[in-house]
Amino acid sequence: MSLLVVDHVSVSYGRLKALRDASFAMGEGETLFITGPNGAGKSTLLKAIAGVVTPRQGEIMLAGHAIGGKSPEAIARMGFSMVPEGRHVFGTLSIEENLRLGTGMRTDKDAAERDLEQIYAIFPVLKERKDKPAGLLSGGQQQMLVIGRALMAAPRLIAIDEPSLGLAPKVIDDVYVALLKLRDTRGLTLLIVEQSATRAMMTGGRMILLRSGEVALEGDARELARSDALRNAYFGIEEH
Ligand SMILES: Nc1ncnc2c1ncn2[C@@H]1O[C@H](COP(=O)(O)OP(=O)(O)O)[C@@H](O)[C@H]1O
Ligand SMILES: [Mg+2]
Repeated sequence: MSLLVVDHVSVSYGRLKALRDASFAMGEGETLFITGPNGAGKSTLLKAIAGVVTPRQGEIMLAGHAIGGKSPEAIARMGFSMVPEGRHVFGTLSIEENLRLGTGMRTDKDAAERDLEQIYAIFPVLKERKDKPAGLLSGGQQQMLVIGRALMAAPRLIAIDEPSLGLAPKVIDDVYVALLKLRDTRGLTLLIVEQSATRAMMTGGRMILLRSGEVALEGDARELARSDALRNAYFGIEEH
């Protein structure tokens, strides 16, 4: 059974059709990149899965259950965790306090403590600075923190919106090394919005190209990242 099914989903903001008839599915443990130019509807797609925006048409299923009409909190309880664009940390709270906020509605407190240690193992820099205010972290460290916070909810599926945006290549490498570790050690299912084909090459998995709200291409991430089809579809958009 697919962990996530997006079935003919359309989202509009007033008269603007941001997502048009998008369909795809993800199996447990899979990595899927969503790529495409600015304004293609990538963030809208993640928001629809998170229940932040309501599709005008279509159905989204998580682990076999339709999420239509459910609140973002209810969808989170079904095992979905989202890291929105922009690395929002609580700057005056410590790193550990930020991470603990992610446990939110969890009742399995012992397991949450184990998850905290695992997150520190994957992002050692967070452990080293755990009592420092999160506002003092660099951009890359803040990205690690928001990913860690999303993991504290113990999701089956984590969606991350443009983790590389505005980070130096070396720092992006560090973030991706950690994501790969998560995939390989926890079998975590990764849905990553990413404009850099290089990262998809590194990571592998599948890739979907969104263009003007539509699924324009879908295939193996490494093959697509190498292909002229992707470059042509991106015409006018520089890769970073
Ligand atoms: N809250 C909103 N209200 C109105 N239009 C929006 C809103 N959010 C996004 N849009 C528009 O919807 C389209 C898709 O946006 P978005 O999903 O953010 O694209 P991407 O993440 O691929 O850059 C764009 O044309 C954008 O301007
Ligand atoms: Mg976006």
